[in-house]
Amino acid sequence: MTRPRMIVDCDPGQDDAIALVLAAEHADLVAITTVGGNAPLTDVTANALLTCQLFDIDVEVHAGAARPLVAAPRHAPEIHGVSGFEGPSLPEPERTVASHQGVSFLIETIRAEEGLWLVPIGPLTNIALALRQAPDIANRIAGISFMGGSATVGNHGPVSEFNILVDPEAASVVLASGVPMRMAGLDLTHQFVVDDELEADIRRLNDAEPNQGAVVLADLMANYLTFVGRIRGGERKGGLHDPCAVLAVTHPEVIEFTDRHVDVELNGSLTRGMTVVDQRGDGVGAEPNVAHGHTLDAGAARALVLDAIRRRGS
Ligand code: RIB
Ligand code: CA
Repeated sequence: MTRPRMIVDCDPGQDDAIALVLAAEHADLVAITTVGGNAPLTDVTANALLTCQLFDIDVEVHAGAARPLVAAPRHAPEIHGVSGFEGPSLPEPERTVASHQGVSFLIETIRAEEGLWLVPIGPLTNIALALRQAPDIANRIAGISFMGGSATVGNHGPVSEFNILVDPEAASVVLASGVPMRMAGLDLTHQFVVDDELEADIRRLNDAEPNQGAVVLADLMANYLTFVGRIRGGERKGGLHDPCAVLAVTHPEVIEFTDRHVDVELNGSLTRGMTVVDQRGDGVGAEPNVAHGHTLDAGAARALVLDAIRRRGS
């Protein structure tokens, strides 16, 4: 099977970092763009560059939007630390950002090459800006596989998931774009459990042969679990979110999808940022616009992630 060619748009965060490793191992990763999200743009861009350095990922990193379309910027220091990469001791950065024009880069690259996948795993600001500034690109994109939203519970609020909540207006633009979409929402990503056992399995990769990247990811995950434990009354357990959006393209067989109509709430005082996934069934409601991922083969996903970290780390 030919390797899908993709651009990952991210806000590293530990799960973004693992998603980048997976994409580098199983896709033709054309480039990386960054967006303000888990941490401010400068931090997530530095974290993306460090991930490329640690895992020998030889692609350009282009910084995109620092803030949402309309909403005020918001970050997640309580989950990923102020820098977005809190926990490990990190190597001295050796790489530099290719540009600060991530949105223009997306437009130019899609205009130059038809059939690329876009895999946004942070707020959808860059994707929305590209689609708004260049509507002609919509028909040239193979698909958008995004981590965001939920058909059930939220994480930053009762019904809102972080990536969508940060920039609901951007999500609205993307969901209305007509581009084929795959959704990895929390109802799917919570099936990929992050716990101390997974952290230990990642750390153990460094036992077999030197793998500094694995140690850094394990330290990031340990820190994430400590943060999550504080929020969840001591339970050190979370979801490995972002890799699911990559797997939806590189290994769709590990996810079950159902075509659904999905939209986003912009105005509700309690529900702003909620993705409304219409699960009433065939022929009821608006035409489906998203392949909603709802069931994950977590064992297969876990094995793919560990194998990618083992192979690419050094
Ligand atoms: O809600 C989970 C999402 O928010 C993930 O993409 C994580 O990295 C954070 O950005
Ligand atoms: Ca992310």
